[in-house]
Amino acid sequence: MIPSSISNYYKWHAPIYDFTRWSFLFGRSSLMHHFPLLADNASILDLGCGTGAITEVLCYSYPESEIIGLDASSHMLERAKSRNLQNVSWIHQPYQSNSFDNGQFDLITASYSLTMMNDIEQVLHAIKMHLKPDGKLVVVDFDSTPFPQFSKWMKRNRVNFDVQLFNKLEKGFAATSIQTQSAFGGLYSYSTFVGSK
Ligand SMILES: C[S@@+](CC[C@H](N)C(=O)[O-])C[C@H]1O[C@@H](n2cnc3c(N)ncnc32)[C@H](O)[C@@H]1O
Repeated sequence: MIPSSISNYYKWHAPIYDFTRWSFLFGRSSLMHHFPLLADNASILDLGCGTGAITEVLCYSYPESEIIGLDASSHMLERAKSRNLQNVSWIHQPYQSNSFDNGQFDLITASYSLTMMNDIEQVLHAIKMHLKPDGKLVVVDFDSTPFPQFSKWMKRNRVNFDVQLFNKLEKGFAATSIQTQSAFGGLYSYSTFVGSK
């Protein structure tokens, strides 16, 4: 089932998403520098692809690959589809363990989507299952904030700082690199994680 809160939220935010998110979803424009070398015909999942900004970069970075953009919001996916990307298929569904076959992907990317997902342990378990044995995971997302009021406000915007995503990633995956940076003078930090299962 599609989480209705996400669908409703992005019904209103999808039209302004690409014009506004550059101002606080940092680390996305440099994410490609963390993409691994992959063989031609690699299989790639962009998890919570939204309007397809990262999917498009994947497309140009891996022109011979099969790329899937999955998202729970039809409004975000409509915008992603309008990019007319060649080697991409789009899936409208909430990510779950039966979304794909085990060992299907050489690379899974998740840009600012994991902190919006419920049951993060199950989601990380599913990612592990869906990666090939030597598959790679590249994540950029909100990391932490010292300000409880900011955390509370972000929760209203469906972002959950409490899940401690990067601690869980470090525990669940073999990290190749983790880079953490501060935003807006320490209001929050965001991190980029590269790892494998
Ligand atoms: C902040 S946007 C990021 C979009 C895109 N990755 C980017 O970097 O611009 C988060 C996206 O995750 C999607 N999302 C949230 N929970 C999801 C879930 N359980 N399954 C699939 N997509 C989900 C939302 O619909 C939204 O499009």
